[in-house]
Amino acid sequence: MGTLTTRTARLVHRLKPAGPPRIEAATTPDLPAIDALLAPHIASGRVLPRKASADAFLVARQAPGHGGSIVGAVALTAWSDRVVELGSLAVDAPGLGLGTRLVRAAEERAAALGFDRVVALTSSPGFFLRCGWQPSAHSPWARARALDADPAPPMLSAALDRKAQACAACPRLATCTQTMLVTSVARAEAA
Ligand SMILES: CC(C)(COP(=O)(O)OP(=O)(O)OC[C@H]1O[C@@H](n2cnc3c(N)ncnc32)[C@H](O)[C@@H]1OP(=O)(O)O)[C@@H](O)C(=O)NCCC(=O)NCCS
Repeated sequence: MGTLTTRTARLVHRLKPAGPPRIEAATTPDLPAIDALLAPHIASGRVLPRKASADAFLVARQAPGHGGSIVGAVALTAWSDRVVELGSLAVDAPGLGLGTRLVRAAEERAAALGFDRVVALTSSPGFFLRCGWQPSAHSPWARARALDADPAPPMLSAALDRKAQACAACPRLATCTQTMLVTSVARAEAA
């Protein structure tokens, strides 16, 4: 059952003749709009603060005749040459499928860039599970707090250790309630 906000968003969306927003690479002039989209979610703790340049982002953009405004964003940040993190994900009208479209577009971009695994550190694990992702038995904050001594798969291990160093410096480490999820985007080897 949707909230009033979600139902209103759906109605507005249906009334818009411009069609669904396009998902495309962000450019530097998009950064203020991306920051504005993410700011309330960073303030609420749902999205982790990140320093990322425009080339890390994909945005969902309304058609030019519709103002061309940015209505969704997602960023990819490499942890290693094989593992990349999907983060800074938000949409301005939830419940319309745009979050899923952004995740799919980011997965495709990750595969095209040659990554094998995409990870997400999130307070919305249910959304990523709906996208077909798997919970990870490991996380960088558990490593930073020495709570994760089990060996991780070789592909993830070095990347987790590097990320754990950043977690160790995070003021939220002791109270971190994020969940790590992972999906494979490795392209099948050519026959
Ligand atoms: C999380 C977010 C990106 C999802 O985008 P969205 O456009 O609402 O997602 P979709 O419409 O594609 O939803 C796909 C499915 O996931 C479910 N879903 C959406 N958000 C969910 C959540 N937080 N927890 C569990 N399930 C969720 C939807 O109900 C839907 O299920 P259905 O297929 O059974 O209908 C969006 O709600 C958002 O911007 N949230 C605020 C920022 C945030 O929390 N970002 C994630 C941190 S990385």
